[in-house]
Amino acid sequence: MTVNTPPMGWNTWNTFGENISEDLIIETCDAMIEKGLRDAGYTYVVIDDCWSCRERDSEGRLRADPEKFPHGIKYLADYVHSKGMKLGIYSCCGPKTCMGYPGSLDHEFIDARFFAESEVDYLKYDWCYHPRIIEGRVFYNRMKMALNASGRDIVFSVCNWGQDGLFDWIRGVGGDLYRSTGDISDNFTSIREIFRSQIDNLPLSGPNCFNDLDMLVCGMNNKGNVSAGGCSFEEYKTHFALWCMAQSPLMIGCDVRNIDDQTLALLKNPELIAIDQDPAVRPVVFRQWPWMNMHSYAKHLANGEYAFALVNFNDEDPQTVSYCFAEIGLPLTGEWGFKLRDCDTGEEFEKIFEDKVSATLQPHSARVFRGRPVRIR
Ligand code: GLA
Repeated sequence: MTVNTPPMGWNTWNTFGENISEDLIIETCDAMIEKGLRDAGYTYVVIDDCWSCRERDSEGRLRADPEKFPHGIKYLADYVHSKGMKLGIYSCCGPKTCMGYPGSLDHEFIDARFFAESEVDYLKYDWCYHPRIIEGRVFYNRMKMALNASGRDIVFSVCNWGQDGLFDWIRGVGGDLYRSTGDISDNFTSIREIFRSQIDNLPLSGPNCFNDLDMLVCGMNNKGNVSAGGCSFEEYKTHFALWCMAQSPLMIGCDVRNIDDQTLALLKNPELIAIDQDPAVRPVVFRQWPWMNMHSYAKHLANGEYAFALVNFNDEDPQTVSYCFAEIGLPLTGEWGFKLRDCDTGEEFEKIFEDKVSATLQPHSARVFRGRPVRIR
């Protein structure tokens, strides 16, 4: 499997936890199409933990819980495929999943065959209950080998929370994306901690192996399985902008069937999605003024443009945050400046920004701009 840009889709866990069903998957798939999310790029529908029976069958195979998924997993794969979408599923490298369902330890090949026969397209592979005497890379190597042997192209979504020296081996074991932190919860502190913990790791993230900052909490509004106080819409905007600047996979976590209009518009923002899906996948290499909780980032994009993000991570004070173009090599002789557009509105600014781009930002707010250097005189 070649995964050139970060996968985008939806995952059951953040909102629904254990309360998942065939109807939920079908209704969500339909809602994603009706609301334009599939066409905006969100094509994976991922069933997280709690989908199987508590026991394997007499031949050691996993089975979908017949009450939650009466027609089984292949039926759902057929359904989502008929709608131009892809199906993801979940297992764990320990003997049990995080929620206590059967894990794939010592069943890797039989489980991979089950996923392939079910025509699943994506496997999220978790880290709970792994035997600690075995190095983490062994479990992921083995499942990758089992997926390869299954004969089906299945995206391998590693979820070991950045542990066991993951950054040294994740490319080697063939993970297509990898969770680098513990679980997100629905509040701004969690968003800020996850993003800031991974800034220095982003140079490792690239085509075929994306740093996954965890599923989005945009639009959850403190409802669901990972609720922890909720966020303001402004904070959800910052969250989405940061995940796009980091080129993280974008897995929606809210209930898409009941999504509000402003969240929908945010998740479909074409300018931010274009940055997330930029084919060059350059890390955010420059940042300034990390003191005072003011961050600004620049990113090289494939078409020769740059993205700039300004963020006020402060909890209380508004701040004027700037990115000075000299930091990315623009000669400050007055001959060059930047022509920019606002990635929130898509508006192209008339003026040329000569030495910096600045914005006065409320606490927990961000702005993203995109553009190219132009000659002034
Ligand atoms: C772990 C993962 C989460 C989710 C749950 C399911 O905590 O990190 O993303 O998959 O397990 O139990």
